[in-house]
Amino acid sequence: MTLDISGRSASEIADSVRAGIERGDLLPGDPLPPVRSLADDLGVNRNTVVAAYRQLTQAGVIVTRGRGGTRVADPSPVAQEGFAAGSVLRDVGTGNPDPELIPDLSPALARMAGRPVLYGEPVIDPGLERWAQEWMRDGLPSAAQLRLTITSGAADAVERLLAQALTRDDAVALEDPCFLTSIHTVRIGGYRAVPVPVDAEGMTPTGLRAALDQGVRAVILTPRAQNPTGASLSARRAEELREVLRDHPYVLVIEDDHFSLLSQQPFHSVIAPGHRRWALVRSVSKFLGPDMCLAVTASDPETAERLAMRLTPGTTWVSHLLQRLTLALLTDAATLAAIERAGAHYAARNAAFVERLTAAGLPADTGDGLNLWIPLPVPARAVAEQLMRRGWLARPGDEFVLGADDASPRLRLTVHDLDDDDAERLAADVAAAVRAAGGRLVTREVA
Ligand SMILES: Cc1ncc(COP(=O)(O)O)c(C=O)c1O
Repeated sequence: MTLDISGRSASEIADSVRAGIERGDLLPGDPLPPVRSLADDLGVNRNTVVAAYRQLTQAGVIVTRGRGGTRVADPSPVAQEGFAAGSVLRDVGTGNPDPELIPDLSPALARMAGRPVLYGEPVIDPGLERWAQEWMRDGLPSAAQLRLTITSGAADAVERLLAQALTRDDAVALEDPCFLTSIHTVRIGGYRAVPVPVDAEGMTPTGLRAALDQGVRAVILTPRAQNPTGASLSARRAEELREVLRDHPYVLVIEDDHFSLLSQQPFHSVIAPGHRRWALVRSVSKFLGPDMCLAVTASDPETAERLAMRLTPGTTWVSHLLQRLTLALLTDAATLAAIERAGAHYAARNAAFVERLTAAGLPADTGDGLNLWIPLPVPARAVAEQLMRRGWLARPGDEFVLGADDASPRLRLTVHDLDDDDAERLAADVAAAVRAAGGRLVTREVA
């Protein structure tokens, strides 16, 4: 089919492409003609077509991906965190916390309603602000001028932080493999994801340097309990990353410390005293439950200013009921003790599962966080398929990977809520699934 693109000016050509998409003549993912051939067909200067394509790219209508050429944008959704809808299988890929370990909100709920809050009042509850100032300061450069913003969770904070600093097609450094929601946020925002490999100590300095050399305007990294790998930044790695960032003080560095109070690892920040654009985000989702929909962001004043501006046309502020509830819970000694026990529980259950898996012939490491990132001798998709036949729904690593085209040899498992019998059965089933998919298990030498 020849494409019906017409026009003499950049705007006319861009309008004609948009009309083609509206009519359904051009579908998501369809290629557009190369600049040169379209310019020849229309009898216009190549620069006119380049300008038209630039307009369409800025508007998020088309995407240009190097050798992949220029295509109609395809907003197909990325896999999402959480339970798989409608599956009868036992879901061990959810990434969820254990509902049993989320504190009972009822006693605090009865106490915290307080007086009504009206338009024009401060958007942060003063009590929460005082408490969070101390919480957020810990681990950041002591001289840093720190301003707080409350958002409807970490994903909301990250989305707005990117929106206040970037425009479409700007590049963002993401950990590879990466938390699904961050991949989704970057894709929906029309930004370009630049993958930075993660090893056992977090983002690699060479990877970050390469991304900065490519001109990324923002970096999203997880200082602890990286999702999916479980990696946490060591003190040395954080210092190396600070060094890499030193020449880029205006690149927005977003630290997503989502596991904070549950983490078994110390917090090491990559934000150096001289860094000008930064944000540290701490969500309460993992310890007070995802439905609290609340995160605290500490940032430099300029970023805070713009972030507050980004909130005004949408949610405006996060309900003071939620803010007071968060404060009531996080200043309650019994709740804090329960959160500490929950952190220890997740770590112990994950370590016990790794032991079972190692005994079954699949050695693995325990990171920090809710999930395990299990290495396999065969592609994870084949193993996940075999696991389905045994009644389990597991997430193959491919969903989290940005950079590589090869099939991922990793499974992400959420197993902390399995009892001993189910954990034993799953470990045996993963081993059987690996064998059925043609993989070899590690047999232990008998001394
Ligand atoms: C790395 C990371 N960041 C943030 C979140 C979610 O935070 P929120 O529920 O506050 O959006 C998660 C949840 O799985 C996560 O793994």
